[in-house]
Amino acid sequence: MTHPVVPAIVNLDVPGPVISRHLYGHFAEHLGRCIYGGFYVGEDSDLPNAGGIRLDVVAALRALDIPNLRWPGGCFADEYHWMDGVGPKERRPSMVNTHWGNVEENNHFGTHEFMELCELLGAEPYISGNVGSGTVREMSDWVEYLTRDGDSPMVRLRKANGRERPWRVRFWGLGNEAWGCGGHMRAEQYAAEARRFGTYCRDHDGNTLYRIAAGANAADYAWTETLMKQLGDLGCAYRPAPFMQALSFHYYTIPGTWQDKGAATVFDTDDHYRTMVQAARVDELITGHSNVMDCYDPGRNVGLVLDEWGTWWNVEPGTNPGFLYQQNTLRDALVASVHFDVFHRHAGRLVMANIAQTVNVLQAMILTDPDSGALVLTPTYHVFEMNKGHQDATSLRVDLPAGTPERTVGDARLATVSMSASRKDGRALFSLSNLDADEPAEVELDLRGGALTEVSARILTAARLQDHNTPDAPEAVAPRPHEVTATRAGLRVHLPARSFVTVTGRLGPDA
Ligand code: AHR
Repeated sequence: MTHPVVPAIVNLDVPGPVISRHLYGHFAEHLGRCIYGGFYVGEDSDLPNAGGIRLDVVAALRALDIPNLRWPGGCFADEYHWMDGVGPKERRPSMVNTHWGNVEENNHFGTHEFMELCELLGAEPYISGNVGSGTVREMSDWVEYLTRDGDSPMVRLRKANGRERPWRVRFWGLGNEAWGCGGHMRAEQYAAEARRFGTYCRDHDGNTLYRIAAGANAADYAWTETLMKQLGDLGCAYRPAPFMQALSFHYYTIPGTWQDKGAATVFDTDDHYRTMVQAARVDELITGHSNVMDCYDPGRNVGLVLDEWGTWWNVEPGTNPGFLYQQNTLRDALVASVHFDVFHRHAGRLVMANIAQTVNVLQAMILTDPDSGALVLTPTYHVFEMNKGHQDATSLRVDLPAGTPERTVGDARLATVSMSASRKDGRALFSLSNLDADEPAEVELDLRGGALTEVSARILTAARLQDHNTPDAPEAVAPRPHEVTATRAGLRVHLPARSFVTVTGRLGPDA
């Protein structure tokens, strides 16, 4: 039987933009069992923990080299008052988490616990400040509390709470979804707030802030344009205004409607293709926001951040609708691999992307059982692990002179083979996805400007797109070794239906 053959040309000696490691970032909100019962089980837990932080979760995530962790929200960020989450735990006031399940939040996981978590993970903290219901002073004090050295009111408070040295916290979000849960603001109104909040978030003692303005929902390019207009004058004297260094946007993959998003594990092939069309749409969105930004910032000084992305399904039956707990199948893994190919292609403008969310919420890396505590790595986790060599690597363009196989899905055309490549530390890494549910494909990689030795490959696939990992079958979808064939021009890579493959090799001296 013949399979579609996809010719692909990669010039190993023609470097593209560097792929920031922060494109592999994460997001953890006070939502459902992400923080409490996920990352944080409390010091009295029987599970091994450090100060209440679950150590097997940390160990699993360390294997991903996660570069940053965004916290405390999400929507929660705009009703979070950080002062409630410092000092002795028994004296911390409680609040109601009105966005997520209306549950009581006891503030036992606060600023110090988050910084401890980041240290254990080896990840940079990304703190989302409260613009919606907080004050400029509150956010300004939080920056001072975390990052100032020497002596000041906030430094004295931090020291009284047990931390002598300041932390380094570069990434600060100026609110979240200001067009929605973050205050239902108009773009002009938020832009004015961002200028004010960004101004009073100060650089203390060499801790240079990277302020990320809360950006658009999906294709709201007008929001991006309104923010970009705040940056200052165009022309030779152009200097980006210092109140923001980046702006964000959010985009979730939802093939259904917000009312009925579809089930995580119960779906058919048509649902799968609709999902892939929605996932691939992230390319159009990044292109659209980048184009608007290019008009106002042709030098690309301002970063674009996709600080929430991933699949959003109906919650698992029987779970709290406000907790956003969902299973994760091979289909989710392919959504992730397609996103990464797009991210790599946009590495010149896209500086950060954070999947929503790391543990037990939406498209998670890790699911934990609330009763037994059993921990499961999801298929999405494996894509992050297999792709981690792209972090801080130099992107390599993949040219597809004959295109890729395609399918018609409703009004859309879906390219069913997706690819990206990079080089780092004398090695090249290729990522290849076959989104077709039934048809295999062959990729003929024509490698120019160098040669590869010590080639090895891994594959993530399963008998069914619906397959997923559970405590009883934790490796139902897990990477296995894969064979690739050396050819005169480079490599031939067989992609079974519904598969994700990574190929790596040492670059010859001429590359
Ligand atoms: O990730 C879940 C929620 O999705 C976040 O709190 C919010 O920012 C977005 O709407």
